[in-house]
Amino acid sequence: MPALVLLGAQWGDEGKGKATDLLGGSVDYVVRYQGGNNAGHTVVVGDQKYALHLLPSGILSPGCTPVIGNGVVVDPSVLLSELSGLNERGVDTSKLLISGNAHIITPYNVTVDKVTERFLGKRKIGTTGRGIGPTYADKINRVGIRVQDLYDESILTQKVEAALDVKNQMLTKLYNRRAIAVEQVVEELLVYADKLAPYVADTVLVLNEALEQDKVVLFEGGQGTLLDIDHGTYPFVTSSNPTAGGACTGAGVGPTKISRVIGILKAYTTRVGAGPFPTELFDEDGEALRRIGGERGVTTGRDRRCGWFDAVIARYATRVNGLTDFFLTKLDVLTGWEQIPVCVAYEIDGRRVEELPYSQTDFHHAKPVYEMLPGWSEDISKAKSFSDLPKNAQAYVKALEEMSGAPISAIGVGPGRDETIEINSFL
Ligand code: GDP
Ligand code: IMO
Ligand code: MG
Repeated sequence: MPALVLLGAQWGDEGKGKATDLLGGSVDYVVRYQGGNNAGHTVVVGDQKYALHLLPSGILSPGCTPVIGNGVVVDPSVLLSELSGLNERGVDTSKLLISGNAHIITPYNVTVDKVTERFLGKRKIGTTGRGIGPTYADKINRVGIRVQDLYDESILTQKVEAALDVKNQMLTKLYNRRAIAVEQVVEELLVYADKLAPYVADTVLVLNEALEQDKVVLFEGGQGTLLDIDHGTYPFVTSSNPTAGGACTGAGVGPTKISRVIGILKAYTTRVGAGPFPTELFDEDGEALRRIGGERGVTTGRDRRCGWFDAVIARYATRVNGLTDFFLTKLDVLTGWEQIPVCVAYEIDGRRVEELPYSQTDFHHAKPVYEMLPGWSEDISKAKSFSDLPKNAQAYVKALEEMSGAPISAIGVGPGRDETIEINSFL
């Protein structure tokens, strides 16, 4: 029963979509277990480029069943337009399964996301504005709407009433907005019921039976470790658990079933939205990483903040996820630098600190301590094996591996499926 978890080891956008797609050809199920359409996963197959938000990246592998687990929040309009966009390009999406327990992002959750961000002013999180936080808040407050509620109009109406009761007071009295009518929301949601019906399933049962039958299941995280609500740079985080434990709760699979946890790790660091980022660059190196790496958000189109590799973060990701492997991505982007700084520790108020501080204040004060590693100038995008890499690129990978605490089992040297050096097999 090989069950693999694949997740982001930094602040998201590490290349999870590419890595999942690469493995998709050899696995039976790919499962999203948290997050929603705040995610933006780019997959390049031949000369075709796909941007996926809610659908697991395994959707592009014909033999693979894509699953949206109970821990995901689903915006039905986004899901349906993503499905029809893929259908128009000839992708068969008929195998998709959606958990009846997944929560629905309603139009009022999107409204609340936008108004609360506006009210936070300079303290805003810089969310994607897709209603993610408010939908998880409703889930925890026990006033959420689940996919299964679409199939009982009376229950749906009662639940929308309960959810809007307090929200309408808040919208009208605090935020100076118009109240949202219950009937209008119910009517809008009911339109999705028939369209989603063919996909809705007891995904917990399906996945556990698949594991019993020795099928290969890959759990694909959205976002990254440092955006985790519990283990990330709170409050500048998303509202779910991208870390490995999230795969268990977000898909209904016990921890004893997980055999491998793969951390996707960019050869440098990026972040979107607000929050601390010790190795962030504000100079021409940062600009160059952004330009060469194409660091622009797939979901919001925002420029990503860029900086050097941070080994303190990588070590932390190994620890909180129990990583068994790393998949190092975008090594090709670093070609051309004479020397590449790597953050090996932080200096915090005059002290050298080797591990991620639990205190938010300390992390905000952390200054990177850099070690300089020699760069390379040869084009590495055609490299097929580790020995094809220039000596300095090999040494860079080895140094990162040593500092990060888990073996680097694959290396990305370009966005395409085949632009990958496989060192240890994942299956
Ligand atoms: P995700 O959210 O983790 O799936 O990552 P994104 O898709 O948001 O961002 C990663 C970007 O890097 C995408 O444009 C990928 O096509 C691209 N990419 C992934 N791996 C590599 C790589 O090894 N080299 C290069 N140059 N680009 C890559
Ligand atoms: P993928 O799956 C990078 C960030 C937002 C914001 C914070 C909270 O492509 O790696 P939210 O809308 O989730 O409440 O916003 O989280 N964020 C991401 N950053 N990649 C993502 O997804 C992200 N999803 C959310 O920018 O800072
Ligand atoms: Mg992304």
